[in-house]
Amino acid sequence: MEKNILSYETVALDDENSALVIIDQTKLPGKTEILNLHTGEEIWNAIYLLQVRGAPAIGVAAAMGIYLLAKKMPTDSFASFYEEFKKQKDYLNSSRPTAVNLSWALNRMEQKVLSLKELPVAEIVGGLKKEAELMKEEDIAVCKQIGENGLTLVNPGDGILTHCNAGQLATCKYGTATAPIYLGQERGYHFRVFADETRPLLQGARLTAYELQSAGVDVTLICDNMSATVMKKGWVNAVFVGCDRVAANGDTANKIGTSVVATVAKRYGVPVYICAPTSTIDLNTPTGDDIVIEERPAHEVTDMWYKEPMGPKGVKVFNPAFDVTDHELIAGIITENGIAYEPYTESLPKMVNRRNQK
Ligand code: MRU
Repeated sequence: MEKNILSYETVALDDENSALVIIDQTKLPGKTEILNLHTGEEIWNAIYLLQVRGAPAIGVAAAMGIYLLAKKMPTDSFASFYEEFKKQKDYLNSSRPTAVNLSWALNRMEQKVLSLKELPVAEIVGGLKKEAELMKEEDIAVCKQIGENGLTLVNPGDGILTHCNAGQLATCKYGTATAPIYLGQERGYHFRVFADETRPLLQGARLTAYELQSAGVDVTLICDNMSATVMKKGWVNAVFVGCDRVAANGDTANKIGTSVVATVAKRYGVPVYICAPTSTIDLNTPTGDDIVIEERPAHEVTDMWYKEPMGPKGVKVFNPAFDVTDHELIAGIITENGIAYEPYTESLPKMVNRRNQK
């Protein structure tokens, strides 16, 4: 097969050179630039600047990152190692607030440290490497299963709309919202996909349209304000989107604009499915009101991607990176352990418990 963007790994570990290897997603689709990150600051910046982004990919990047940092931590005693580990963990965790996968992955790495605390530090570090690699493998399997489960909800030839990028570039493979699309593609389903461009950072245009087109999927790029038009025309049978944090009641934080799509979809009777690895379900957060929404700098709205500023100098800008889709607007939450339906306070714990029992 010809090399394309899907031939690259979103997140990889180069242990020999102690590097976290990512594609700089801010340069796509024009340029495929690979970054080798070594320091905590480099990893923090890459997450903050969205060079690596998407909830599952951020989680795996942080897990590999903390392992690489652990390689350089004090080895004289567990206490001094653990103190430094917690410092670096908190630092990486501060890079972005909304996607729960970041803290989920870092907490899992901390649990690994604690479970090995009686062993020499070198062995604890070895355990962290295995755990980070396992998370990557698990992410691939989880996405594939989300794809299988999602595929049961659609039919060959269907129109599918997606927002932002919950694709391979946001995970280790397959994506979440794109997983049913990729599996359908392999099985001759001939889906017609509509990708919202996703202002202000254009993940839909730059990443989703790019990766789906590279895979030979029938993808049409639309501006964010066109979803009502394609739905009213009857071109969309289902909406598949990803998520950054699903609260216990099913309220879901995802890329800004998702709740607009869901509101419009309700009007036109199109079901909205959230594609959610159980690692993105946060049962400790009761409702969407309790989710911290990241706000990002003004220049992303006024200047980024434009040749000259597209807003008056000094204008007030509100730039939340995510919004919350109320659970009433969601037809189902597709996890690797099955599809959760209302009431989510009952169905989501079942999905999460199935993960814990594995
Ligand atoms: O700001 P981003 O690009 O990290 O936002 C990404 C999203 O909102 C995705 O839909 C979400 O993380 C799920 S990725 C499988």
